[in-house]
Amino acid sequence: MENDKQYWDKPSPPFVELLGDLPYDMVWYRGKRYYASLSYGPEAAPVAENSLRICQSDQSGFLIETPAATLLFDWYRRILPPIRRDKPLHVFISHTHPDHFNQSLLNLAKRFPDVSIYLGYDYSDDALNEALEKLPEACADSVSCFRGGQHLDIAGGTVHALESTDLGVAFLVELDGLRFFHGGDLFPWRGAEKDFLAYIAALKGVRIDYAMLPMDSRFPEAAGLSISAYLSQAEIGCFTPMHLWNKPESVPEFFRLNPRLRAGLCYVGPGQAPQSCVIAEYKAQLRSMAYKA
Ligand SMILES: [Fe+2]
Repeated sequence: MENDKQYWDKPSPPFVELLGDLPYDMVWYRGKRYYASLSYGPEAAPVAENSLRICQSDQSGFLIETPAATLLFDWYRRILPPIRRDKPLHVFISHTHPDHFNQSLLNLAKRFPDVSIYLGYDYSDDALNEALEKLPEACADSVSCFRGGQHLDIAGGTVHALESTDLGVAFLVELDGLRFFHGGDLFPWRGAEKDFLAYIAALKGVRIDYAMLPMDSRFPEAAGLSISAYLSQAEIGCFTPMHLWNKPESVPEFFRLNPRLRAGLCYVGPGQAPQSCVIAEYKAQLRSMAYKA
């Protein structure tokens, strides 16, 4: 039918669909389903001095713009949001589980003039080792691998890797006078509570401007321990819960029951499609660096 034909010839607006257990932005076009271009990402306006622009995808993916750089954390989707080319791009991959990683990220040096990739990885995956070995030289040079406890000085800051209770690492990043933390899968999984508390002891008293904290909605008790332990360990200015397994409503529910943990919470709330989750632009306070490896 003519109307149907017209419908199929036009891409549908982006919608979110679960593939496996993971949400993806999709469109229909000519009767087929495609990954949507992501409309969120850098806006034309530059980021104001002392500010951050933070876009949360879902699960544990974040795009953060500072006035001087762009940081991408655990972006597992196959397509990227729009990313500026006139700033250094720092890509953090806490580990190689499919809800945190897609292999095409390792080739970003082909597309961006100034990219650095930090990969939490212990060389135990033969297929990935082979992929790393086959990278063109420029791409291979952009990748640094981390085990827990390692750190690397970079232009404008330092990258610290904390041990994780699952695969890979968590990242504590100092860049251009700001400090970020991304927990990866460093979470009190059942039986790993002791290790979790031991590993996050590295954050004791550390001032963090913006933290991305795992709050796995599948394990409510562990989620509570995770958030309260991180917040009591480090001095966190602003944080966003992540690793929600497509249950954003678990966030307001949790903080309604735990109002004392709400200070610094930075979250849009349920009902927001992930492609429009620009969650905050806030004045980050520049603080002196207190972290010691
Ligand atoms: Fe995960």
